[in-house]
Amino acid sequence: MAEPIRVVVTGAAGQIAYSLLYQIASGAVFGPQQPVFLHLLDIAPMMGVLEGVVMELADCALPLLAGVLPTANPEEAFKDVAAAFLVGAMPRKEGMERKDLLAANVRIFKEQGQALDKVARKDVKVLVVGNPANTNALICSKYAPSIPKENFTAMTRLDQNRAQSQLAAKIGVPVKDVKRVIIWGNHSSTQFPDASNAVAIVGGAQKSVSEIINDDAYLKGAFVTTVQKRGAAVIAARKMSSALSAAKAASDHMRDWFLGTEDRWVSMGVVSDGSYGTPRDVVYSFPVTVTNGKWKIVEGLTISDFARQMLDATGKELVEEKQEALDVCKD
Ligand code: NAD
Ligand code: LMR
Repeated sequence: MAEPIRVVVTGAAGQIAYSLLYQIASGAVFGPQQPVFLHLLDIAPMMGVLEGVVMELADCALPLLAGVLPTANPEEAFKDVAAAFLVGAMPRKEGMERKDLLAANVRIFKEQGQALDKVARKDVKVLVVGNPANTNALICSKYAPSIPKENFTAMTRLDQNRAQSQLAAKIGVPVKDVKRVIIWGNHSSTQFPDASNAVAIVGGAQKSVSEIINDDAYLKGAFVTTVQKRGAAVIAARKMSSALSAAKAASDHMRDWFLGTEDRWVSMGVVSDGSYGTPRDVVYSFPVTVTNGKWKIVEGLTISDFARQMLDATGKELVEEKQEALDVCKD
């Protein structure tokens, strides 16, 4: 058995954490040989609720759970952590766009960036889930200059999982048999779910999804808008934002980042280097592969005129969000 690693989850008394903590503590994220010491951060008024979560974790009797530290102090929570799930933030309500949360949430990520910079391991892998996730990740990185930019990512894996699931249902194959769906850009209604490189296994043979579905209007229309608006559809139905599926996606993202993807493509919001003509220095979702804990953007894909417009629109929104966030952080 390896030495335990310290893993922090913020917003630990909230909905997403309630599903996520079990996945981390049971070995689904860091592997069945890796014990974890969980640091649970929430705000002071939630410490009573958090106490109940700590009791339940103990009652799960999980062999890989080496310890639990509940706290309302970010510097205590981030001390020596190897992985950080930054979930804690206000969720949107019906009728709001995710960017409406910017002013309320971005300050949290400034403060947490500063705390990570001070006390976390310099190789910490940070996944931002709290919305607006891409811009929060950018701000967090900006306020943690001693940690490499590559170590800050935003979650678009839920969008990827949604896209894969929509295509699998349309084609009538298991979800695992649909591959290479891409989410480009922002985790917002401007994101571009792109099936143009996707493949599926049908009757034992791998074929292109565009060929199998053979309906351009669907792939550029209903497929795209369904994925873009899925978060809002869940809110409308549940009166609360997605939590079970968000926790699963956060586990998928961190597991693939730690343990690697082999030849699978996964979508992650990462600090853009300008690849595919996207704006630099915003957290933009790209298709990546991961080897030895390092992600790399998939190169050499063809961008159609339609895709170009979609990539540019979501990039423009990210540039605007960045400016707004920087203004908020000045106060
Ligand atoms: P929730 O309201 O159930 O829980 C949020 C928790 O964060 C609360 O316990 C709250 O007290 C805590 N919190 C607030 N400020 C904090 C701070 N400064 N430090 C630590 N904890 C703090 O919300 P939820 O449903 O768990 O959602 C959390 C966030 O995740 C929301 O912003 C939501 O929009 C976002 N989200 C993102 C995705 C994605 O795909 N990226 C998917 C689903 C939800
Ligand atoms: C989601 O995609 O479900 C989350 O980002 C929650 C939301 O506000 O849509």
